[in-house]
Amino acid sequence: MTHLLLVDDEDALRRWERRVLESQRYECKEAVDVPEARAALAGERFDLALLDVNLPGESGIELLSEIRTEHPGTAVLMVTGEDDLSLATRAIELGAYGYLVKPVRAGELLINVTNALHRLRRETELLRRVDSLENNREVAERELRSALHTNGGRTSDPIALLESETIHRLVRLAEFRDAQTGQHLVRMSRYCELIARALELEDSFCRQIRLASELHDVGKVAIPDRILLKPGTLTSAERRVMETHTEIGHRILSDSGSELLQVAATIAHTHHERWDGTGYPRGLSGTEIPIAGRIAAVADVFDALTSDRVYRPAFPVGMAVEMMEAERGRHFEERALQALHDVFGQIEAIRREFGD
Ligand SMILES: [Fe+2]
Ligand SMILES: [Fe+2]
Repeated sequence: MTHLLLVDDEDALRRWERRVLESQRYECKEAVDVPEARAALAGERFDLALLDVNLPGESGIELLSEIRTEHPGTAVLMVTGEDDLSLATRAIELGAYGYLVKPVRAGELLINVTNALHRLRRETELLRRVDSLENNREVAERELRSALHTNGGRTSDPIALLESETIHRLVRLAEFRDAQTGQHLVRMSRYCELIARALELEDSFCRQIRLASELHDVGKVAIPDRILLKPGTLTSAERRVMETHTEIGHRILSDSGSELLQVAATIAHTHHERWDGTGYPRGLSGTEIPIAGRIAAVADVFDALTSDRVYRPAFPVGMAVEMMEAERGRHFEERALQALHDVFGQIEAIRREFGD
């Protein structure tokens, strides 16, 4: 049985919500204000809470952030009389699964509740998978360490093997969520290595950037489906949410003792920064952007332009190069872009070998 908590000080509306939802076999509990809702949440587990924004005393927005931190297994939908974009954005940023403006129609209410519950289940499942991946990694690492210990260290760098395995498993996880996969990651990561070699960076870094760049968009695992998989153009509020994949990716990968994962964290964080400072998330410019991020930007955009998209076919290579040339010193660092030209023959070979 799915348990819902309905929080609204308007009796008529709350009872209407209850009637509509109970007709679909949801079990509902009502609360007229924040203290009553808090007491209900302390007493039992809810799958979803419908919160009014304007409640007497404390606001529904405060309750929203409280629920998302203290009861992460409870999804929240906001229901409000105010058709206010900035309020809606704030609610989404705080973790609301949706934002309904009164008067709400029965169908609309039910669709939003179904969607929110569906997303909650997907996210719970995803978290479970991340946990088990993490456990697998710990077990494998322990076993390898003990194997290394017993054979007197003869195994050739098992930690490096583990690191690359971790990366590949995380990539696999990210692929469950990213619509734009195909061979993008294979091509993009190889382009990164070629560019790094053309820039005469150290051999170990060139190998690292190839593996690490495969995780550049791993943060997309946390972007809601309705934004990540939206077929049309994103609204500016949705775009802001989408852009957080850089920070989320960084959070997932940072603070690692592994140099490889550190490079991956840097790339996830900085691959959408632009040389002239107009990128995101931090608006870094020039050499403030780590070299791995500058290289990834060139490789990622080149592959995006030369690949088919749902909304447009691939640009011919010559045109893609011209488009990128127009961004020399703006979006892209001159040297990194020049490096792409220097290894163009090899880039083309990769494009042919790993075409979609
Ligand atoms: Fe990205
Ligand atoms: Fe990409």
